[in-house]
Amino acid sequence: MRLLPLDPLLCRHLGTNRRVQGALLACIPSRDYHLLVMPKVLVCPPDYFDVVDQKNPYMSKESIVDRAKARTQWENFCSVLQQNGCEIHTIDPVVGLEDMVFAANQVFVGEKPGYGKFVVPSRMVYPSRHREVEYFTQWFRARNFRIIDIAFAHDDFLEGHGDLLWHPDGSRIYAGYGFRSTRSAIEKFALAMSEMGIEVVPLQLIDQYCYHLDNCLCPLNDDAALLFAGAFSAESLAALHKHWKRVHLLDAQEAHHFMGNGIVLNNRYITPRMTPQLEAILRQEGLTAVIVDTSEFEKSGGSCFCMKTFFP
Ligand code: ARG
Repeated sequence: MRLLPLDPLLCRHLGTNRRVQGALLACIPSRDYHLLVMPKVLVCPPDYFDVVDQKNPYMSKESIVDRAKARTQWENFCSVLQQNGCEIHTIDPVVGLEDMVFAANQVFVGEKPGYGKFVVPSRMVYPSRHREVEYFTQWFRARNFRIIDIAFAHDDFLEGHGDLLWHPDGSRIYAGYGFRSTRSAIEKFALAMSEMGIEVVPLQLIDQYCYHLDNCLCPLNDDAALLFAGAFSAESLAALHKHWKRVHLLDAQEAHHFMGNGIVLNNRYITPRMTPQLEAILRQEGLTAVIVDTSEFEKSGGSCFCMKTFFP
């Protein structure tokens, strides 16, 4: 057990008394956190969160966001991360950047012994989202992360941790393409990662409801992953089976309701909802579910995993 450091900004956002929060304790495994469960997490308050266009099939112009409800859900989400050992850091939201709350997409974050901490700025498909990238890049630059800029062509796109997922041991990165990130951007990204000895496994996405890889693949530990097979081309599915000792399957309903968009932390699986089938999988992998309501954010096509970035 150790006492959690508390972020004054979060206290302000949560409107909670620091002395009360100071009493918060969390069980943290004594072994070092690997990349999947880095205890520092960056989030963006949903002050200007809105659904104004249709970037993915979950979004509808008729959707009305309940801002107060979104704020309550986001605060609860942050509390759950904090209770499970995370040190919360926030980036200031920007007027007009309605999707900035989805803090997983603007940069790809990593650390490699001998190379240090780095970020790869994204090239987002939608212009309003692309404007978010500079704010996140600046945030990490100010904290001495190395910025790896990739020379993207005008039709190359790469969307951060939406499409790029670390293997928990840090040896390789799974890279989804087909709806947002493009194959050629992933090839350029793979070249940059190869210089650090990190392998990139390209995966073709074929289900528009799984437009980002983080909707259909979730590493649970070094050996096991949760995935929705219908989201991948046959060749990509075969590659996934090759890389994981245990592949646990979600069905379409589970994947389309963001149950593959969970966060593995402190032996928990933070998910917006649960089915008996998913519960059985988690039990087999020694994880317990924590349910966090993200209904307002799902109107924009994102849930738990999309709303944060872990960083070293
Ligand atoms: N409305 C956002 C978009 O379409 C949602 C992003 C969700 N993020 C994620 N990592 N899946 O870009």
